[in-house]
Amino acid sequence: MRVTLQPSGAVLEALPGETILAAAQRLGHECPNSCRNGNCHVCTALLVEGRVRQGGEVRDHGEFYACIAQPLEDCVVLWDGVLAMGALPARAFGCQVIECAEVGGDVWRVRLRAPAGKLPRYHAGQYLMIERDGGGQSAFSLASAPHSGRELELHVLGREASAQALLAQLQREGTARVHLPYGDTHLAELPGGPLVLIAAGTGMAQMQSLIEHCREQGFHHPVHLYWGVRRPEDFYQLEHWAQWESTPNLHLHKVVSDLCGWEGRCGLLHEAVREDIAQLSGVHVYASGSPNMIYATLDALVEAGMDAHQMRADVFAYAPRA
Ligand code: FES
Repeated sequence: MRVTLQPSGAVLEALPGETILAAAQRLGHECPNSCRNGNCHVCTALLVEGRVRQGGEVRDHGEFYACIAQPLEDCVVLWDGVLAMGALPARAFGCQVIECAEVGGDVWRVRLRAPAGKLPRYHAGQYLMIERDGGGQSAFSLASAPHSGRELELHVLGREASAQALLAQLQREGTARVHLPYGDTHLAELPGGPLVLIAAGTGMAQMQSLIEHCREQGFHHPVHLYWGVRRPEDFYQLEHWAQWESTPNLHLHKVVSDLCGWEGRCGLLHEAVREDIAQLSGVHVYASGSPNMIYATLDALVEAGMDAHQMRADVFAYAPRA
């Protein structure tokens, strides 16, 4: 029996005798539920089309409880709170600040520790929000990967007054209230081919999370990292860089935009990618930087033969191009 969930549009194939909640969870959806026996009503959904059996009765419309309802035919169900496959629910919790250290280039590495019993759930490449004193929140890419457990790492560029105020808040209070996870530029599933990671400045945080996840998962396809800054002194220290250099399938490229003549490469990130990778058709590209940089990179790589759908960046969601 096919059960179509609205508003997500996900389609479940329920096995004979299986409840709608069980089918959704078997297929990897996060669903609201608690008692699983029809008492708490947390899993209440609305039957739009079809018939279900709930307890001893057959229903063909109205509210029902997904934890005890079995579809009798193909159904359409309105069930708020069911997340798409692979999506994780956002949660808020207070963290301890266990490190706030300058690591070069005016960048600060911030480490937070979630409370015992509250393991943060996120995919590599996602971001969190930190609550600021006086109201408002600031977004930061998670530089840690899910296997880091309760410890979360962020890279904060401390040049602007608002970032300096947040760093001062973290150091003063020693705690931070965070919300996570957010963003769909992630690696919920590893791709079946090479990865190209393009980071400007502290966009490196997101790429560190992706790289650490790939290493932990034994990803064997080539991973090309392009990290760009304006001046050589803007490169900051990354804890695992030396290990990355000796990882056979990891190819690291540092690129400086404003100074030719330093020991490394100069120019723009998309120029370096185009110089190195002649065949872009089979690669998966993840990019992090300003909207201008991201769209310039997208246009240049599409011109070089990449399909636009091969590239993922948070900018596409928060600053869509007209
Ligand atoms: S989970 Fe409690 S009624 Fe369904």
